[in-house]
Amino acid sequence: MPEQPVGPAQPASATPGSQSLPNLKRVRTRHFLAAKQQGIKITGLTSYDQLSAQIFDAAGIDFLLVGDSAGNNVLGYDTTLPVTIDDLIPLTRAVAGAVTRAFVIADMPFGSYETGPLEALHTAIRFMKETGAHAVKLEGGVRSADQIGRIVDAGIPVMAHIGFTPQSEHGLGGHIIQGRGEGAEQLLADAHAVEDAGAFAVVMEMVPAAVAARVTKELRIPTIGVGAGPHVDGQLLVWTDWAGFSTGRIPKFVRQYADLKGILSDAATRYKADVENGEYPAAEHSYDE
Ligand code: KIV
Repeated sequence: MPEQPVGPAQPASATPGSQSLPNLKRVRTRHFLAAKQQGIKITGLTSYDQLSAQIFDAAGIDFLLVGDSAGNNVLGYDTTLPVTIDDLIPLTRAVAGAVTRAFVIADMPFGSYETGPLEALHTAIRFMKETGAHAVKLEGGVRSADQIGRIVDAGIPVMAHIGFTPQSEHGLGGHIIQGRGEGAEQLLADAHAVEDAGAFAVVMEMVPAAVAARVTKELRIPTIGVGAGPHVDGQLLVWTDWAGFSTGRIPKFVRQYADLKGILSDAATRYKADVENGEYPAAEHSYDE
């Protein structure tokens, strides 16, 4: 249960009439559970740097995932597969060091946990020791349950990730919606497996809304949707997609809340023109002798 009773929305940005987690000093795993029990929606965004993390934290976003989607959004890769632990450690440290309230989750990249529970534990320990993150996330349901259990036993909270799992993009045959038709039973089995293994929450990516609703009803732990419809306990989006900053294909489930690409492109064009025609720098930007 939360330390404080859940009241009306606290962060300045919350919609009147909506409910937020109360003005906590720090969001913790127990608040995720309390939110589900009290019907309060949990909000998450990815973040890969200090500046975005500060802004999202101040806006009251409950958790920040330093996702391996940094591969596509920061590091210049086409997929998340090449991303390494060493790539993500400095990004995670920057995010964890920038927030005061948000719960920060380090994503475990492909190749850092698949060989077994011990490898998974070593990776999780590195993230916890070297970054200041509060939890780790890894992909896979039934197939990752032993890894989740081993990490949780060591006192490290784990967010699970089922449905479409980008690290298995090639095995799944592309960006394909999971849990349709007979796939619904597999999704349910995955959801129960990660809950039983001790995950404190589970991300469900690209699954039909009705199936996500069923999983949400059956599980005790909160479900966090990424393209899983409205009947889940919280939502997570890749911030660069959400803010209109990404240059690649934007998934159907994303609502764009800003046009950062347009704003920056316009700024760069005006700056170039000003420099070229001598309007920048002006007197006020220059030092006296
Ligand atoms: O890396 C990431 O951003 C993710 C989310 C899309 C769930 O795993």
